Amino acid sequence: MKAVVFRGIGDIRLENVREPKIKESNDAIVRLTASAICGTDLHMIRGTLPGMKPGTILGHEGVGIVEEVGKNVRNLTVGERVVIPSTIACGNCSYCRAGYYAQCDNANPMGKLAGTAFFGGPIESGAFDGLQAEYARVPFANVGLVKLPDQVSDDQAILMSDIFPTGYFGADLAEIKPGDTVAVFGCGPVGQFVIASAILMDAGRVIAIDRVHSRLEMARGQGAEVINFDEEHPVLAIREMTDGIGVDRAVDAVGVDADHAERGPAAKTAKASKKEYEQELREIAPKTNPHNGNWRPGRAPSQALEWAVESLAKAGTLSIIGVYPMKAKWFPIGLAMNRNITMRMGNCNHRKYVPKLVEMVRSGAVNPASILTQVQPLTSVIEAYKAFDARQEGWVKVELRPTVASVAAA
Ligand SMILES: NC(=O)c1ccc[n+]([C@@H]2O[C@H](COP(=O)([O-])OP(=O)(O)OC[C@H]3O[C@@H](n4cnc5c(N)ncnc54)[C@H](O)[C@@H]3O)[C@@H](O)[C@H]2O)c1
Ligand SMILES: [Zn+2]
Ligand SMILES: [Zn+2]
Repeated sequence: MKAVVFRGIGDIRLENVREPKIKESNDAIVRLTASAICGTDLHMIRGTLPGMKPGTILGHEGVGIVEEVGKNVRNLTVGERVVIPSTIACGNCSYCRAGYYAQCDNANPMGKLAGTAFFGGPIESGAFDGLQAEYARVPFANVGLVKLPDQVSDDQAILMSDIFPTGYFGADLAEIKPGDTVAVFGCGPVGQFVIASAILMDAGRVIAIDRVHSRLEMARGQGAEVINFDEEHPVLAIREMTDGIGVDRAVDAVGVDADHAERGPAAKTAKASKKEYEQELREIAPKTNPHNGNWRPGRAPSQALEWAVESLAKAGTLSIIGVYPMKAKWFPIGLAMNRNITMRMGNCNHRKYVPKLVEMVRSGAVNPASILTQVQPLTSVIEAYKAFDARQEGWVKVELRPTVASVAAA
């Protein structure tokens, strides 16, 4: 079958690989009809989320049809349509039972403390083969796989594998109450779903910060008040927009590949911190491999976190869903401590949110497909990765269609 394979930092390839087989009694094999590219994949290829094992199939978003089930998968039958939550969880340990699926004690073969188990990730996450492929093995399929009603299309469902739940989780962690003013740093696909979720949670105002025009326009289309950090200093703009108070809740939907401003007033401040940013990059990403404008790590890993803390009102809440590698140690702790800031963060407990979001989409309350900007065959995956990595105007979220499925559907 065809699959996207990680070969090294800055080196991904579409290869022919062996089809997966059932290994455990609660596994299922899913024939993928949709996959997608996530900002987390970019961190791994840029080298800022290190530890990938060469040969691992990438991708942690998937929708498909159950092809085969192990003998302990008692709730699914072959032929059913399902969405695959990105994180893998047993459903049985005390963490899963409490809804902390991302902290499952049993799913990660590297051990209880190794980190969140997810598809297509680094060794510390279990080095599971991912979902940018024609078929995938899904461990703990009886717990993970969520059935899809006919009314929910693949284009809608693929966004519920990872990024809609993650955006919702980010808004949930931020403790958004009706009337709150919320700042969302990063208007990539995840940031777009934080905005949508904040609005669903009755936020009074949502302020969205990025520099990519088409992403800011999409945020504005959802009702957010937008700030381009290459034109205005985002923290000063937020203070001015909130009568000097700041925002009640801030969400970091950027992560380790954060950039500093290249132009405008915030570029001046960044110049003074250039050495610190370079040091941060050396610590977390000793190996990088930028090539022809692609796979360049962000220039200022701590920038989004710094702005988020600075923009908060006293006693506000910071929610961090942007991904940082285990080695990252920098954070404006003094400012956060002295302002009585509450911080909540983590990898999304996907399985906790997916069923509820599927029902919201089925009922017509939200249409997640409105943020999908490209649908590409798996055969064009490398070009699609490059455009998404370069944040080309108009490229917000890319769905991939694996070949076997498209042929079968035709
Ligand atoms: N916690 C989880 O479970 C989880 C799940 C999925 C994705 N993520 C993470 O969410 C983050 C966003 O994912 P995505 O797919 O939207 O990625 P993306 O790379 O498409 O989006 C990031 C956006 O941030 C913007 N940006 C860069 N520096 C900035 C700054 N200083 N201030 C404000 N905006 C800035 C970029 O222009 C870009 O639009 C990534 O870190 C990804 O790994 C986390
Ligand atoms: Zn993801
Ligand atoms: Zn568990």
